Amino acid sequence: MVQIIDGEKIASDIRSEVLAESEKLKKEGITPGLATVLVGENPASKVYVNMKEKDSKAVQFYSERHDLDENITEERLLSLVEELNNNDKIHGILVQLPLPKHIDENKILEAIDPAKDVDGFHPINVGKLVIGLETFLPCTPHGVFQLLKRYNIETDGADVVIIGRSNIVGKPMALILMQRKKGANATVTVTHSATKDLAAKASKADILIAAIGKPKFVTADMVKEGAVVIDVGVNRTEDGLVGDVDFEAVKDKASWITPVHGGVGPMTRAMLLVNTVESAKRHSNRQSKVSVKN
Ligand code: GUN
Repeated sequence: MVQIIDGEKIASDIRSEVLAESEKLKKEGITPGLATVLVGENPASKVYVNMKEKDSKAVQFYSERHDLDENITEERLLSLVEELNNNDKIHGILVQLPLPKHIDENKILEAIDPAKDVDGFHPINVGKLVIGLETFLPCTPHGVFQLLKRYNIETDGADVVIIGRSNIVGKPMALILMQRKKGANATVTVTHSATKDLAAKASKADILIAAIGKPKFVTADMVKEGAVVIDVGVNRTEDGLVGDVDFEAVKDKASWITPVHGGVGPMTRAMLLVNTVESAKRHSNRQSKVSVKN
C-alpha cells in the first residue's frame, strides 16, 4: 500500500523551527532579512514570489520586495543587487528565475554576495557543494533531501535515479545525495533528454526523482515495485497543474510518493526560510567574533 509523503506537514514543522530561530536571533538584536526580486510579469513567478514574501513575514523576517519592469536594463538590475549586497538589513537575496531574455542570468547570479545567496546558485556556493563544504543548498533539492531524511527513507547505498539535469534541481540534487555523509551516500544516476533507455534505468531506482518538466513523463513501467517516487514537476496544462509523474498510474507500485499539491512545492519555500535564517546566524557569528577581537 503506497504511503503519501506529506510535504505540507513537514514544511509546516520546518516553518515552526525557523520561527523559533528567528525569535532567538531577534533577542540578540538581529532580524533575519530577505529581499525578493521579481522582473517582469511572468504569472507563475509572481505567484511564487508572493508566497515567498508571505512565508517570510509569517516567520517574522524583515521582508523587502522589488518588482521591476520587464524592460529593466541589466545594469539597473546589477546595481539593485549591489545595493542589496551592501544592505545590512538583508541576509538573503532571491532573484526569481527565469529572467527576461535580454538579461544574462549567470551575470546576475554571480553578482549576488555568496554570503547572501540563499538560493545557492552562485558559482562559489555550487563549487562548495561539489567538494562537500558547508554552503547554502538550492531550495528545491534541499527540500527533497529533508523529506527523505524526515521520513527516514534509507539513502545509504541506495540507487537513486534523477530525471533532469537542471542547475536548479537535477545537478544539485545529485551532488547532495552522493555526498559521503549520513542521510546521503547514495549511488546517483542522472538521466536527461539524451539518455538511452531512460525507462530501463529509471526502473532500477530505489528512489526515483523526476525533475524534467514534462507532464506525466514517469509512467508505471518506469517504476520499480516498492520504489520511493519524488515528483518535482509543476506543469501548467489545460487540466491544471500536473506533475512529472503519472500519479494515478504509479501510486500502486511505489512504497512512498509525493503528491503534486503538498509535496515538494511547500518544501522549496520552507528551505528558503531555513537558508535565510542560517545566513542571519552566520552574520551574527561574524559580528560576535569581531566584537571579541576588538
Ligand atoms: N525559479 C524556479 N525555481 C527557483 C528557485 O528555486 N529560485 C529562484 N530564484 N528562481 C526559481
